[in-house]
Amino acid sequence: MTVSVIGTGRMGKGLVKTLNPIIPGLNWGSRSIDHVQQLIKEGELKGVKGVSLDDALRADIIIHAFWFRDLIPFVQKHAQQLSGKILVDIVNPFTEDFSDFITEWGTSAAEEIQKIIPSTKVVGAFKNTFFKVFENPEHQGLTSDIYVTSDHDEAKNSVIDLLQGVPFRIMDAGKLMNNRTIERMTLFEREIAIRYGHYPYVSFRLFGQ
Ligand SMILES: NC(=O)c1ccc[n+]([C@@H]2O[C@H](COP(=O)([O-])OP(=O)(O)OC[C@H]3O[C@@H](n4cnc5c(N)ncnc54)[C@H](OP(=O)(O)O)[C@@H]3O)[C@@H](O)[C@H]2O)c1
Repeated sequence: MTVSVIGTGRMGKGLVKTLNPIIPGLNWGSRSIDHVQQLIKEGELKGVKGVSLDDALRADIIIHAFWFRDLIPFVQKHAQQLSGKILVDIVNPFTEDFSDFITEWGTSAAEEIQKIIPSTKVVGAFKNTFFKVFENPEHQGLTSDIYVTSDHDEAKNSVIDLLQGVPFRIMDAGKLMNNRTIERMTLFEREIAIRYGHYPYVSFRLFGQ
């Protein structure tokens, strides 16, 4: 399986840093190859290949790190290239001022993306983890959860297998509709982290297992 991360923002950087040790030949795609190559050099990310977005889309598994507003036109434009592939979705569909969600109750960003690209297998993951956590995923002896969701069981299992070895606890979190809960929990965790002064170092893990 070939894998690409696309996007060089806060989550893109964190994902590449975390996945590089466990995925040989990881591709990192950006609108600017110069920028991504500079980041690879600065981060001494040996083994990561900086590529164009078109080349990144050739991988079997594509993990995007875009905002919802940019992801929608992107998947519409590249629906054919994404067809038959796995798209790992990390979106939390906040409003620009982080005061609410742009999706209606009764749906989630992951489900809305799946509707736009029905021939792609959308797998939700990493939504509950804010970017700072990638620098130190262990807190007080515990690691954060990654909730892996999909309406395609085989694709979900492929992503669960792929992620073995990352310093998180990986959980089969069921269908995409569970992102209605996961995505909405993230605004709550953001508010709490800001109130108690540790934002953006925040994620969540279910206790009791
Ligand atoms: N921030 C968090 O802690 C966090 C936590 C969980 C989930 N998420 C989700 O992760 C996603 C990314 O968040 P982020 O904080 O990493 O965002 P960010 O820092 O703003 O990075 C977004 C990246 O998207 C890429 N991009 C592609 N098309 C774009 C366009 N048309 N305009 C602007 N940028 C474009 C850019 O990479 P290139 O310039 O390389 O193309 C940009 O660096 C969001 O959906 C968010 O909800 C974020």
